[in-house]
Amino acid sequence: MSDENITEDVALESRLTEQEYFRPPTDFVGQANVSDPGIYDRFDENYPEAFEEYAELFDWDEHWDEVLDDSNPPFYEWFTGGKLNASYNCIDRHLDERPNQAAFIWEGTDTDERETITYRDLYNRVNAVAASLRDVGVQEDDVVTCHLPMLPALPVTMLSCARIGAPHSEVFAGFSAQALADRIDDAGSDVVVTCDGYYRRGDFLNHKEKCDEALELADSDVETVLLWTRHDELHPEVEISDDDPYVLVDDLLAENDRARVDPVSRDAEDPLFLMYTSGTTGKPKGCQHRTGGYLSYVTATAKYVLDIKPEDTYWCAADIGWITGHSYIVYGPLALGTTSVMYEDTPDHPHKGRIWDMAERYDVDIFHTSPTAVRMFMKWGAEYVEDYDFDFRHMTTVGEPIQPEAWLWYYKYIGGEDAVIVDTWWQTETGGHLITNLPALEDMKPGSAGKACPGIQPAIVDDNGDALEEATGRAGNLVIQRPWPGMLQTVYGDDERFIDEYWREFSDVDSDDAEDWVYKAGDGAVHERDGYFRILGRLDDVMNVAGHRLGTMELESAVAEVEAVAEAAVAAREDAEKGEVPDVYAVLREGIEESQAVYDDIVAAVEDEIGKFARPANVVFVDDLPKTRSGKIMRRLLENISNDDELGDTTTLRDPSVPEDIRDQVRGD
Ligand code: WTA
Repeated sequence: MSDENITEDVALESRLTEQEYFRPPTDFVGQANVSDPGIYDRFDENYPEAFEEYAELFDWDEHWDEVLDDSNPPFYEWFTGGKLNASYNCIDRHLDERPNQAAFIWEGTDTDERETITYRDLYNRVNAVAASLRDVGVQEDDVVTCHLPMLPALPVTMLSCARIGAPHSEVFAGFSAQALADRIDDAGSDVVVTCDGYYRRGDFLNHKEKCDEALELADSDVETVLLWTRHDELHPEVEISDDDPYVLVDDLLAENDRARVDPVSRDAEDPLFLMYTSGTTGKPKGCQHRTGGYLSYVTATAKYVLDIKPEDTYWCAADIGWITGHSYIVYGPLALGTTSVMYEDTPDHPHKGRIWDMAERYDVDIFHTSPTAVRMFMKWGAEYVEDYDFDFRHMTTVGEPIQPEAWLWYYKYIGGEDAVIVDTWWQTETGGHLITNLPALEDMKPGSAGKACPGIQPAIVDDNGDALEEATGRAGNLVIQRPWPGMLQTVYGDDERFIDEYWREFSDVDSDDAEDWVYKAGDGAVHERDGYFRILGRLDDVMNVAGHRLGTMELESAVAEVEAVAEAAVAAREDAEKGEVPDVYAVLREGIEESQAVYDDIVAAVEDEIGKFARPANVVFVDDLPKTRSGKIMRRLLENISNDDELGDTTTLRDPSVPEDIRDQVRGD
């Protein structure tokens, strides 16, 4: 499969026009957190010890003995012997210098509903919630599953878990009950944290219902569910019955109002959290992140790449329920002691200027969003931006390739042609940025993520794992050749899967020499002649829908739940706004006619199993799926059909007429 991809990507590469460079403004360079180009050599020549600079950005209870223990690859250990607490470093250590500075400025669905949470407030709340978690029996190393939307309760709960050494596993609020149940089971959580509801485009959504259903679907017996309330009291549309395991957080807080909980000193290698993400096979996997290495890496990249300073107002408009929010709304920015903006609802509520209105009101300096959002703003038009007076110094894009047109629009209309932009490539697994420019040191080039971060060694390899010559402009598989502190520790509870998914393909898995182990990113990329990396997208069965990662297999197994469906395959179709959207190709059981009802059942199944954000764009009923002689579904051909591309080689198919028939059907021939 990847063979075909790479050939195509090479073709694509030749179609890409050479982009011009944009210099970072002199004003920016003069004030940047890193302006010494020597940082790259320092990290290369002094690897891995140079990463100590990152760990020294915050306080440790005990200093580490060794920076990297690579004696048992790929189970690397970072800052071994060191001890620290992440909540202490994100909160307590700022109390002397900036107790009254806002850590978060939260805005609800209504413009006039605002909450400023100072570092002192955050300290008080996190202590009280940490005490409450203990009251319901949470102990060190218990995994607490959270299913919270963009309310202050979310970062508060995460930091409270961190304070008592209980890894959190936050499940994005848009995930369905089934998805939540699967994650509760995999993490083995006895305690779940959710809320009564939140607002979407001004309407109240009952969120507790999802948890009710998840408790029924889950195999585990959840003992307690902590329920935050969106308002001062439980919303009238939400009910709790006597036999529910729900406890109102407010009731616990009433008792723990002034509680103080000493931050638990965690080993650098103790897990800080799990973040489930989609892979190529089976159920989503729990990426397990360590405390010391992760916190060091996200703090340093927030400082050097995002250029965050304590006096800044920073706004990452992602959802904390994904890795971007964990690393670059919660841990990195708070460790640096800055002020972050948080917003509950959608960018078009109550009008399409909402984001810029907030940017003006809070005088935001640094803005961070996804290419999908940029494409949406671009589609809405510059007139929604022009009325507002805001001035960003720095802007970020994350999560998907950004087309040069969208980049240029962002640069001109949002950045006013005087903000720097960093295009940051990384993954849930990598913890933090791996490929992106240090903004004062390198020129920007639309569509290219840029250079490797200090100490990071990416390479492009062919399908045999042989490295292509550097910076020759050829496309291939993106790999990372040396471990880094932010990398995942393992797949929760499944070391074998960790090796299989990320290492086996390009490593000598029998070797205990770290040099023989290479991390496979799953993306295709080009190492351009100027040393910049251009990311082409996933080479495996993972798609990127509006910046959300979805496994083809997950979608297919959701569709397979529909009784009328005999067999189904999912292909990614390129979409001008969302990047990619899923198309479902379904073969119905004998005797079942295609109908709107079956179509709706398929869409509903995906929404139920995963969430509304994964909803198929199209369902195509077909007589057969393209298969190889050994019976493997050739999704690539379906992808070509969905995108109206050339079909490509069909000679290995059992029946080459199948894809042609589907194509004719889709084209309406
Ligand atoms: C894609 C998000 C192009 C890529 C932080 C990766 C990108 C996947 C970029 C990870 C970028 C992320 N340019 N593609 N700057 N950043 N990707 O785990 O395919 O949700 O493998 O992490 O998003 O998605 P994830």
